Amino acid sequence: MTVYLDHNATSAMRPEAAGAMADALNAGGNPSSVHAPGRAARATVERARETLARHMKKRAEDIVFTSGGTEANNLAIASAKASGATRLIVSAIEHEAVIETAQNSGLPVEIWPVTGEGVVALNWLEDRLKGWDRDADGVPFVCLMAANNETGAIQPVEPAGLMVREAGGLLHVDAVQAPGKMDLAVTGLAHYVAVSGHKAGGPLGAGALALDCDAPLTRQMHGGGQEKGRRSGTENVPAIAGFAAALDAAAADEDLWERLAFLRDLAEAKIRSQAGDAVTVWAAGAERLPNTLCLSAPGWPSEIQVIALDLAGFAVSAGSACSSGKVRRSRVLEAMGAGSDHAGSALRVSFGWNNTEKDAIAFADAWLDEFDRARPKVRAAAAI
Ligand SMILES: Cc1ncc(COP(=O)(O)O)c(C=O)c1O
Repeated sequence: MTVYLDHNATSAMRPEAAGAMADALNAGGNPSSVHAPGRAARATVERARETLARHMKKRAEDIVFTSGGTEANNLAIASAKASGATRLIVSAIEHEAVIETAQNSGLPVEIWPVTGEGVVALNWLEDRLKGWDRDADGVPFVCLMAANNETGAIQPVEPAGLMVREAGGLLHVDAVQAPGKMDLAVTGLAHYVAVSGHKAGGPLGAGALALDCDAPLTRQMHGGGQEKGRRSGTENVPAIAGFAAALDAAAADEDLWERLAFLRDLAEAKIRSQAGDAVTVWAAGAERLPNTLCLSAPGWPSEIQVIALDLAGFAVSAGSACSSGKVRRSRVLEAMGAGSDHAGSALRVSFGWNNTEKDAIAFADAWLDEFDRARPKVRAAAAI
């Protein structure tokens, strides 16, 4: 049996989410239909909206359901032009769902640098906004993720929100990695917040964009006018119901964060104590998501590690993988100043709600065994 330690890619579905989905699937109904099954489906969607609003500390009417985190990020960034933005500020460690979308928006993109710990440099933003020429530069539109998917580094969303608001700008927060792992209240000053069901113990195929009440929105999906005309397309009722149930289940799982941190710290300490200087743990000095461990062993390429661990029964990921499954050097670690040897040997281990102490210990042992086996090659590579 594979030990699954890739919850930042997609988390294991919570039974509560599967149950809510089964109920919605069995009930059927199109939430736009006026008959009884349609009204029941509508009620399921609206209950889920209330649930998301409660967890995200937003108003239910400001939640727009989408197909996932990528679409929610696209919707927010597409709204930049409508808000009067003529250029975008995007942190250097954003997910492709933000950085690629920004680069394809037709607006110039300025990259907001991060420190060696993988946290955005707030003084950079402060200086940039001080020098902001509103006539030439338009409304400042800033994208900052809540926490990084590779390193787990939590970003200073609240102080950034204050700065952006003082400058009269708009802040978009990709909070896809946040639910169940950190407090979403930090996104209170954001104008747009993107979340995704499958990262939170819910199903694939449901996400949401939470809007601040006065945030402009430019619709991307035209059609039947669902979601108050903000996102057309029949709502994915089972996935939406599962998403909401997963958020409730995570919130009711009282010591979840402590449990995750315990597992991560256990694996990290074991690996560090035996591998010593040969291993680097990224963002170790920053506040991190409790479940995320990102490490590099220069000379031991990420893809080889992932394959060796897969054969040993552990599902983990390279620091960065593209949708084709090919591994490439971690752009996030490079932005943090890592050389190509470190960025090319990164491994991300992300624990989830159903992992145990046994999983953490077994993983650390397996990693150390594989590392010992690879060591001669690692040393040879280091000597070149
Ligand atoms: C930080 C972050 N943003 C956005 C996404 C994309 O979300 P989705 O897979 O729901 O489209 C991911 C997925 O890995 C992510 O980690």
